[in-house]
Amino acid sequence: MTLFSTDLSQQQIDGHAFPALVTGRGDLAAFIRSNKSEIDRQLAVSGTVLFRGFAVPSPQAFDQAIGAYGEDGFSYAESLSNAVRVNVTPRVFTANEAPPDVSIFLHHEMAQTPLYPSKLFFYCEIAPGSGGATPLCRSDVLMEKLQQRRPDLSQRFETLGLRYTHTMPDSPDRDSGQGRSWRDTLGVADRAAAETRLRDMGYDWTWVDDDALRVRTPVLDAVKTLPDGRKVFFNQLIAAFRGWQDKRNDPSKSITFGDGSMIDPHDMTEIIELSDALTYDLSWQTGDVALLDNFQVMHGRRPFKGKRRVLASLIS
Ligand code: FE2
Repeated sequence: MTLFSTDLSQQQIDGHAFPALVTGRGDLAAFIRSNKSEIDRQLAVSGTVLFRGFAVPSPQAFDQAIGAYGEDGFSYAESLSNAVRVNVTPRVFTANEAPPDVSIFLHHEMAQTPLYPSKLFFYCEIAPGSGGATPLCRSDVLMEKLQQRRPDLSQRFETLGLRYTHTMPDSPDRDSGQGRSWRDTLGVADRAAAETRLRDMGYDWTWVDDDALRVRTPVLDAVKTLPDGRKVFFNQLIAAFRGWQDKRNDPSKSITFGDGSMIDPHDMTEIIELSDALTYDLSWQTGDVALLDNFQVMHGRRPFKGKRRVLASLIS
């Protein structure tokens, strides 16, 4: 068993491999149970730990590995995630049901809502024929580059925060990466209950055609400061500007600064270029498990061909 090796041409950030790689064999749950503190140390310095070569033959084995990690789950049912997902075990679900040719661009999980997980587990049950990597980007490094290159802009994100607008369909739309219905997203059965939940969270809303619901968040952080002082670009700007397009949503109007002012698409192009240059593509092998720190690392999904099944689980 090799702890924390560097066989995958990982990035080196401040002397640490990104992602950190653990290769081994045998039961992953047992490994995690006896090495949790070292895993957490690596997660803190790298932002991602990839477990490769262990025996993780099924979603149930993945579920046991998560159980061995021993931290509380963050339930998809209670979250305000926009992605359509299907549960496989109570804490394991399909990562996103969007079609294979749809790219899911870099984001921090659920940073567009007031409720987000601190960590994510991914499990590759079936590696795709081609494509389908999970792009990973260190958000603290991106923020550092942005501060160097555009101190004005990074300051604006930090002081003003963001408001997100999103239109949710009446029933799930599987053709969209953000097609979760308002009933499922809010966990409600009718309009009155939807309005109560939104009011409690400080959202604005409007009912639009086809019984769809357009909501706008209260002002949320665009930049967060980690306990050690590093700043991270904790938001959904990149994913939204590149890809939140479906028949209900126009990416250029989805997000404004917290004061309602528009975000210049040229500025976003610059940030997207920076993030592309910092991205590491995690190419999945069947049986891989990855643990991501949702505050340090953004993730996405490359388009793919063939069958691909990557499952996810969230830690609160
Ligand atoms: Fe995600």
